Amino acid sequence: MFKIQTLNHIAVAGLDRLPRDRYEVASEITHPDAILVRSAAMQAAEIPSTVQAIGRAGAGTNNVPVAAMTARGIAVFNAPGANANAVKELVIAGMLIAARNIGQAWQFARQLTGDDAEIHRAVEAGKKQFVGFELPGRTLGVIGLGAIGVKVANAARSLGMQVVGYDPTITVQRAWQLESGVQPALSIDDLLSRSDFVTFHVPLTDETRGMINADRLRILRKGAVLLNFSRDGILDDDAVVTALDQGHVYAYCCDFPSNLLKDHPRVIALPHLGASTREAEENCAIMVAEQVRDYLEHGNVTNS
Ligand code: MLT
Repeated sequence: MFKIQTLNHIAVAGLDRLPRDRYEVASEITHPDAILVRSAAMQAAEIPSTVQAIGRAGAGTNNVPVAAMTARGIAVFNAPGANANAVKELVIAGMLIAARNIGQAWQFARQLTGDDAEIHRAVEAGKKQFVGFELPGRTLGVIGLGAIGVKVANAARSLGMQVVGYDPTITVQRAWQLESGVQPALSIDDLLSRSDFVTFHVPLTDETRGMINADRLRILRKGAVLLNFSRDGILDDDAVVTALDQGHVYAYCCDFPSNLLKDHPRVIALPHLGASTREAEENCAIMVAEQVRDYLEHGNVTNS
């Protein structure tokens, strides 16, 4: 009997892949053989010595002490691509929300008072105040051309946008092969200077932390929209807020609210919803449960 500990929400569809005659699955469990975790931050010292594998039901592994686990011979699995569609949809929504001023317009409409005639008069003012712009012909810069970045690029192209791509880990030639409609940028600075929207799909590492700072924001096209549905820390939020206040950046959509960001009129900050769809939760849970099961039962390592 294998013992699996679930540290926080793992969709039932994934747990169903662990047959009850061979697996005991619970959040409170002693001496687990494996742990399935979504976003809970794990501390190396708290991981029992019986653990052989950890399955992270998501793309990023920042909440798992991977180096310490590897040193202990524990396999760490993640679910790359399993939530890519969910993230892609939210990025596209973010572009539309920014381009059509939906956050501010919604606030405006909710605060209207008076009878319907007065509200209708206010609507005329709102129509003038919240004139937006359309996506076709605009350029989206995609930083990070993995499963999510490529999906975002395809969706943007289907909306009539130009796409410029840059990935610090792949060559320009590879970018062309991956996605023929993506124009490869030579560098981050090249991409920033060519983009009306910039979206980030890279993990948080020593190389990407603070990748977008005040100097880089000066290179960005004036009036551009930034979208960060990957990891907090890739953009320097203080620098972004300054650029928003100066009118250089038009809007910032991100998945990480903070005191600095959450009330800013030109920021749409969501509570890390990129992967929060029923479908993505199920896909991630199934992918990691199957990998952990394969590893425990057969020693197979896929995608660790
Ligand atoms: C991911 O890395 O894919 C997300 O952080 C998943 C999640 O929200 O749990």
